[in-house]
Amino acid sequence: MTNSNPINDLILGDNLAVMATMPDHHVDFILTDPPYLVNYIDRSQRSIKNDINADWLMPTFNEMYRVLKPDSLMVSFYGWTKIDLFFAAWKAAGFRVVGHIVFPKRYASSAGFLAYQHESAFLLAKGHPEKPVKPLGDVGNWYYSGNKLHPTQKPISALTPFIQSFTPENGLVLDPFAGSGSTCEAAKLCGRQYIGIEIDRQYFDLAKARLDSLSSREIIAA
Ligand SMILES: C[S@@+](CC[C@H](N)C(=O)[O-])C[C@H]1O[C@@H](n2cnc3c(N)ncnc32)[C@H](O)[C@@H]1O
Repeated sequence: MTNSNPINDLILGDNLAVMATMPDHHVDFILTDPPYLVNYIDRSQRSIKNDINADWLMPTFNEMYRVLKPDSLMVSFYGWTKIDLFFAAWKAAGFRVVGHIVFPKRYASSAGFLAYQHESAFLLAKGHPEKPVKPLGDVGNWYYSGNKLHPTQKPISALTPFIQSFTPENGLVLDPFAGSGSTCEAAKLCGRQYIGIEIDRQYFDLAKARLDSLSSREIIAA
């Protein structure tokens, strides 16, 4: 494949193949929500591709590290039942763990030994990024997105603070597991550039329509 410099784009395809076309050090920040490796199927029988096998973990995080600028950050959600696999992949790629973010929910997503009422993400560094003057708290805001567009749709307001804090104005945000485009919408609302990659045409089409319909009024108000 040839090198390309996509900006403000949603790309339908396998993120490994798409990132392989990107130059080194292309993006300012990665905010992503990979499959949690739990074979999740929601009440409407919607599922998530690559939510069973973990073969993609190491190669994909290696590519994410390569396309991220030096001294930059990534926020990655993760499935806590497979934390050992996620940790191994992040560290093997070269990321340093520099923060852990918890998003308490007012509702439980599921119940077992506990009622599962939080989401979590790690803040990972490539190199030694500059620290913000006013660091964000590591307990994030969460509201129920309704999951109308995607079975694990992340709420926009949970994402925007991290984009604002960790991406320069007009900087480029990458989400290689874009789903319904929540990270891309959040980046657009924050006045940042974005690249989203999604393998499933159904979610890709929804994300595309969602971003196309985002009005400039909403972008200015955010
Ligand atoms: C947890 S979901 C992301 C949901 C998203 N945060 C949202 O708010 O809609 C993970 C997404 O990654 C996609 N995916 C899985 N493997 C992929 C791959 N190799 N390349 C691109 N997308 C992939 C899945 O189809 C799924 O939509």
